[in-house]
Amino acid sequence: MSDGGTRVWTEGWGGRKHGGFTAARAQPQREGWRRRCHCRLAKELRDVIEDFHRIKRLPPYVFAEVNRLKAAARARGADIIDLGMGNPDLPTPPHIVAKMVETIAKPRTHRYSASKGIPGLRKAQAAYYERRFGVKLDPDSQVVATLGSKEGFANMAQAITAPGDIMIVPNPTYPIHEFGFIIAGAAVRHVPAGTGEEFLRAVEHAVRHSIPKPLGFILSYPSNPTAMVASLDFYKDAVALAKKLDLIILSDIAYSELYFDGNPPPSVLQVPGAMDMTVEFTSLSKTYNMPGWRMGFAVGNDRLIGALARVKSYLDYGAFTPIQVAATAALNGPQDCVDEIRETYKVRRDCLVESFERAGWTIPPPPATMFAWCPIPEPFRHLGSVEFAKLLIEKADLAVSPGLGFGEYGEGFVRIALVENEHRIRQAARNVKKFFSQGADAEDNAVNLPQKVIR
Ligand SMILES: Cc1ncc(COP(=O)(O)O)c(C=O)c1O
Repeated sequence: MSDGGTRVWTEGWGGRKHGGFTAARAQPQREGWRRRCHCRLAKELRDVIEDFHRIKRLPPYVFAEVNRLKAAARARGADIIDLGMGNPDLPTPPHIVAKMVETIAKPRTHRYSASKGIPGLRKAQAAYYERRFGVKLDPDSQVVATLGSKEGFANMAQAITAPGDIMIVPNPTYPIHEFGFIIAGAAVRHVPAGTGEEFLRAVEHAVRHSIPKPLGFILSYPSNPTAMVASLDFYKDAVALAKKLDLIILSDIAYSELYFDGNPPPSVLQVPGAMDMTVEFTSLSKTYNMPGWRMGFAVGNDRLIGALARVKSYLDYGAFTPIQVAATAALNGPQDCVDEIRETYKVRRDCLVESFERAGWTIPPPPATMFAWCPIPEPFRHLGSVEFAKLLIEKADLAVSPGLGFGEYGEGFVRIALVENEHRIRQAARNVKKFFSQGADAEDNAVNLPQKVIR
């Protein structure tokens, strides 16, 4: 469904046959009985899987094609520089690891933990909000620890939406912002991502032209993938709009500590009255290089936090206690490790922008996050982001994420993650320079894979 201001409307992908999943496949001419039997079973299994209501709503994974090509190139022995996934490559600071090691030796920490987080951890998160944003939180009713912010976000979607509900989601954005709601059975209405009046106008337009009325909207700044940062004034306007239209706000600030211009990004909860309708998600994954530990938080409105805590109480027993204790040490301990992590990304960002500029690819320096949002260079723009990403693997031994993977409005861009050191980034730039210098020939030799990719 389309309309002027908010073009994309996702009901999920139920009932569609796509991506070759159910496409007729040529049967080999001479296959034995066992193989035919196996194929029949596999087809039946595919049909059963397609019948699952929630699975039917999920489209094929755009990144899968690029990942497959990357794996094939590596299998051939290519030295692929992987700047695709936002998976931090640096180690967790030693004092956090030491706290984990110390705690894991205590048998009493081996029992089931607390689903919403141990009290000390929730207090540490409340202290972080007070110190960083000047926002006071009640650790009992306004803070829940989550198994990474992704889990928290997805379970919040489960907690507050039902089939028939509508949520307004920016596009492009981190995929769980959309698919958390799709999996929960809700419908999603997209608005072009932005940090100004236009974005809020698009939200208002979507609310006025949707039946039933949408439940709320998502904010996520600094943004993955675009690295856009929101101002406190924008948040003030967003809260005023939410109040006027009686909407919930879900804000994801996973990159709140990765900023490069000396201006710490604000929290929407700093706006007076935001607590009436807002929940905000944070993560230790990027701030402390702890992606594998799975530790994040949801904080804010007690009714919404209560709903999330209740759903989680049926689903999990919380993170392993030693992880929660180590996470407490991260939040309460020395913060110079955060400064060092930020500085590392800044140095890599500058290296990327400078070396790629020399290679003939102008990349706007991101003000925050660990990503650069890169316009596809003119000569390749007609290919689209998926084909261009595939070409970079084949011709420059470089893996990036196609913008289309973050939503239709992400087309025309690829996302480069700063997850390799400067030496490797410079090597990637040299590879790109060589590839660009081959001109049209390079494109002609590209692997010819399907043009149309469904997100
Ligand atoms: C915007 C955003 N939110 C949330 C997450 C998930 O973080 P976590 O590791 O806390 O689940 C990511 C991870 O890349 C992200 O980019």
